[in-house]
Amino acid sequence: METSVLEHLQQSGIGEATAILYTQHGAKVVIADIQDDKGYAVCKKIGLNNTSFIHCDVSIEEDVKNAVDHAVAKFGKLDIMFNNAAIEGPTCPSVTDTKVSEFEKTLSINCTGVFLGNKHAARVMIPRKQGCILRNGSVSTVMGGVAYHAYTISKHAIIGLMMNTAAELGRFGIRVNCISSFLITTSMATDCFSDKDGKWIEDLACKIANLKGVVLTADDVAKAAVYFGSDDAKYVSGHNFMIDGGLTTTNEVFGIFNNLLPSIL
Ligand SMILES: NC(=O)c1ccc[n+]([C@@H]2O[C@H](COP(=O)([O-])OP(=O)(O)OC[C@H]3O[C@@H](n4cnc5c(N)ncnc54)[C@H](O)[C@@H]3O)[C@@H](O)[C@H]2O)c1
Repeated sequence: METSVLEHLQQSGIGEATAILYTQHGAKVVIADIQDDKGYAVCKKIGLNNTSFIHCDVSIEEDVKNAVDHAVAKFGKLDIMFNNAAIEGPTCPSVTDTKVSEFEKTLSINCTGVFLGNKHAARVMIPRKQGCILRNGSVSTVMGGVAYHAYTISKHAIIGLMMNTAAELGRFGIRVNCISSFLITTSMATDCFSDKDGKWIEDLACKIANLKGVVLTADDVAKAAVYFGSDDAKYVSGHNFMIDGGLTTTNEVFGIFNNLLPSIL
């Protein structure tokens, strides 16, 4: 059955990978982003019969409303909303030095943006009594100390929203879930984790990963997004699905398997 998807996404990151995989599974995808050139380029790359781009700043309600209405007008319905857009926010490790304006900007995109996506997706999904609302979290949804303050707070907040909307929208047959991954080499990650020459520390993720010998990619998130949007996940709602190789369930410092404890003692 044909599926219509609205993605707040992008160019070369997780959004693009997800858009490609959704269309490979027969979905029609609307890409909504502030980067018009890159959004159109992804549509062209995938094929203009299966995609459509709309300019959308996820922090502006009118833009999000228009994007949802565009998806319905273009493809007849909205089955899946993937709130993927986010920024890394101020890369400031000090709470005392973090600027309120940058903090608030991060929340307006990473958190209010997801709220608006949920609100307008629900608006068109409730009458149809079905739908899948997804958001892109992070290991920062459940951990402190792996990203800067505004980003961590915004990612924690969207889990609260996920739990509440899953509770509210279940009666309408709408499932709400979150996909939370460990580090993936995208423009956001390279902006955050680069050495003094601005070069991505390519093996950083491998070094700090719990699961060794495999590399996490945007395609792994895309595969989870396809699962959550499919009938295979028909009874799955309210999950924060970790794709982290066990990182968030592991305490490396206290770990008894790495001989760190004896060296600390
Ligand atoms: N890359 C990682 O290591 C990683 C890990 C876990 C979670 N994530 C999450 O995955 C998602 C995608 O990130 P990515 O790594 O692909 O980064 P990315 O920078 O490639 O993609 C982010 C996209 O969001 C868009 N965007 C930014 N502000 C916007 C706004 N106001 N309105 C609309 N679009 C806007 C950008 O134009 C860009 O296309 C984010 O939610 C991020 O937090 C990323």
